Amino acid sequence: MLSYVNNKFCSLHNAKISVNDRGYQFGDSVYEVIFYKDGKFLDLEGHLKRLRKSMSRIDFELNFSDSAIITIMRRLIIENNIKHGSIYIQVSRGEYSRDHSYFNMPLKPILVILPKKIKEDFKIVIPGIKVYTTFDTRWNNPDIKTTQLLPNVLAKTKAIKNGFGEALFLDKKSYVTEGSSSNFWILNENNILITRSLDGKILAGITRDSILNCAKNKNIVVKEKKISLDDIKDCKEAFITSASSFVTPVIQVDKMIINDGKVGKFSNLLRKTYLEMND
Ligand code: PDD
Repeated sequence: MLSYVNNKFCSLHNAKISVNDRGYQFGDSVYEVIFYKDGKFLDLEGHLKRLRKSMSRIDFELNFSDSAIITIMRRLIIENNIKHGSIYIQVSRGEYSRDHSYFNMPLKPILVILPKKIKEDFKIVIPGIKVYTTFDTRWNNPDIKTTQLLPNVLAKTKAIKNGFGEALFLDKKSYVTEGSSSNFWILNENNILITRSLDGKILAGITRDSILNCAKNKNIVVKEKKISLDDIKDCKEAFITSASSFVTPVIQVDKMIINDGKVGKFSNLLRKTYLEMND
């Protein structure tokens, strides 16, 4: 697989990053995951904008224009003969002899772009997943998309090990923040779609933003507010969104079965609308 690592094209096999890379030593790096489907990068503009925002939030800049990044991404798609797949972009603050403070360090950000091939086509109707809840032990800025993902990694691994598709984080008052790698939504008993507002406790999902627009276009009423476990107990439908799962229905949260364990029609409609919008 041809990749772009440490500012040059190379095969993944020959890719090299210094052990003094601050991303490796401190998680001092930011990232994006962008889906590619039949000639199109999904929500490209939003992802590149958020990448810049993440860098600025942790105080560095990348000396590559968006069009330079897109040119690299396109070359990787073409040379690796990818029809459907994803692009992982990571930018670390740079490489230097290890020290916590980067003040006055002569650092140059390191750009890595890794393509991934996905074989299957995307199904409009998919089975729902079960999720479990766990307290959100992340740092106070989960709205920055950094590679410091240990709580997410542990929670997701526990989910998969126990037959769940995702872990949902709960804040101190037991309201859902988000999934370990997704945003969370419910459709309440009054057919109002609810997802947590961008209150700093969740990542501003790019798919979340697109789904908000899809819902509005379909005249579905949306409210951005906190979701409690009682709200989940009473809800008609639930789903998660992310660049890699689009809209994925949730049919069980802990022991609470949603919609008799069946995938709901709003979840299907939004998944279909999102995928068709990107045809
Ligand atoms: N994760 N919340 C968290 C914690 C995430 O890691 C993600 C995405 C999202 C959804 O964001 P978006 O819609 O922009 O993908 C929300 C990616 C897919 C990942 O880490 O692989």
